[in-house]
Amino acid sequence: MTKKDSFVSRRDFIATTGAAVAGSALFSPLSSVANSMDTKKMRIAIVGTGIRALGMWSKDVLETYNDRVEFVGLCDINPGRVESFKKLSGFTCPSYTDFEKMMKELKPDTLIVTTVDATHHEFIIKGMEMGANVITEKPMTTDETKCEAIIQAEKKTGKKVIVTFNYRYSPHRAKAYELLRSGAIGDLTSVDFHWYLDTSHGADYFRRWHRLKEKGGTLLVHKSSHHFDLLNWWIESDPEEVYGFGSLDFYGKNHSFRSTNCRPCTHKDTCKFYYDMTKNKTYMELYAANEKHDGYLRDGCVWKEDINIYDKMAASIKYANGVQVSYSLTTYSPYEGYRIAFNGTKGRIDMWIEESNPIERKNYDEIMVTKNFGDREFIRISHGTSGHGGGDRLLKDKIFAGVTEDPLNQSAGVRDGAFAILVGVGIRNSIETGKPVKIADLTSIKPGTKRQFAKA
Ligand SMILES: NC(=O)c1ccc[n+]([C@@H]2O[C@H](COP(=O)([O-])OP(=O)(O)OC[C@H]3O[C@@H](n4cnc5c(N)ncnc54)[C@H](O)[C@@H]3O)[C@@H](O)[C@H]2O)c1
Repeated sequence: MTKKDSFVSRRDFIATTGAAVAGSALFSPLSSVANSMDTKKMRIAIVGTGIRALGMWSKDVLETYNDRVEFVGLCDINPGRVESFKKLSGFTCPSYTDFEKMMKELKPDTLIVTTVDATHHEFIIKGMEMGANVITEKPMTTDETKCEAIIQAEKKTGKKVIVTFNYRYSPHRAKAYELLRSGAIGDLTSVDFHWYLDTSHGADYFRRWHRLKEKGGTLLVHKSSHHFDLLNWWIESDPEEVYGFGSLDFYGKNHSFRSTNCRPCTHKDTCKFYYDMTKNKTYMELYAANEKHDGYLRDGCVWKEDINIYDKMAASIKYANGVQVSYSLTTYSPYEGYRIAFNGTKGRIDMWIEESNPIERKNYDEIMVTKNFGDREFIRISHGTSGHGGGDRLLKDKIFAGVTEDPLNQSAGVRDGAFAILVGVGIRNSIETGKPVKIADLTSIKPGTKRQFAKA
């Protein structure tokens, strides 16, 4: 066996894939809006003015795509948070606590949905019915009934939904997609995929609404929908059948002491999971200052007894093209990242990606390609500057800058959003019943051997 090293900078990579070419004709479901910029800006409203809307979908979008977008309205169920959001973002548009009133009065053509997961469907459906195309955060929704309602609403209204699967846009993941399509390992037959959330980021899901199945659908939907979407995209087929296990062994009731939240806690000095939110000025303004309206505690105790989601999960997934997947998610790891191996008829691709590391973090991600009876190559991809290795910028360019090319088939609509959550919903149902679940039994969308690409 011989060994070869190659280094691909993010700039080179984008140049070769053409994934970030701005201008010209459009791929996007929102293309008719984004592409008619000479005459009309996208008129955007946001529902759910929490940290995701603030960090991903507000100031940066307005500043970067200033000639193409206009924010016309903001809505949140918490009257204080929507005002805090205005201050933090510098937005001056009107704010509402009544969603329908906002839609009726402002008539936005585009709605960004960044509320609590279990409520996404209400705004996606109502938003389309009231005349807007929708950009929704993942997960598209949290169960099969709501998913079916979104599928039908899109058909009925003729409006479009984009699901913002930013993970597809990370340069090293895009490179893996290219390698798989290039036949580097022959035909893909199985995937080993294991994701590790650490005691900081992983624990954070147990502090707030994500800890409740009824709000986030469990991490199999809230978090793993990113991972299942990556699998659906990489494998380029639809998931057909799942079987899973899950339990809550670490957080929640599995501890000797607890509090409501960290600020008033009497165990601050001894609890390893004590989180001092007072050091985060934005969180204090967005959340602490507005607790009086809804009791939302951003620094909730990870040992609360009402936690009803799993903290360790494992599943088998079978795809319509015959590919088999072994998946797991752990939520209390000392470091964060994932291991994935794609097994093919002619070799194997391995990635061991560390997203946080207590000692040091490399400034590149590495892909190892090993051929059966042959060579091994290491491909290094440097990290980009915007969020998720530069992926967030590429995603936003597609949505707001009128980028047309989609050589890596990264665009995602309702069908992609549905399959990403249905894997998690199916695994959840499997854990509850002890039986395998067929994805075709969940909604009217039927899995196909070849993934259908989202189109303009
Ligand atoms: N793609 C990613 O990498 C990524 C990262 C973080 C969050 N997200 C997604 O973004 C969304 C928001 O997450 P967040 O971390 O900002 O949460 P958050 O709790 O900070 O914000 C949610 C906001 O929605 C509001 N809200 C809840 N129910 C509502 C209702 N019925 N009507 C109006 N407003 C309502 C809350 O008051 C809150 O302000 C979630 O769906 C999450 O999954 C995606």
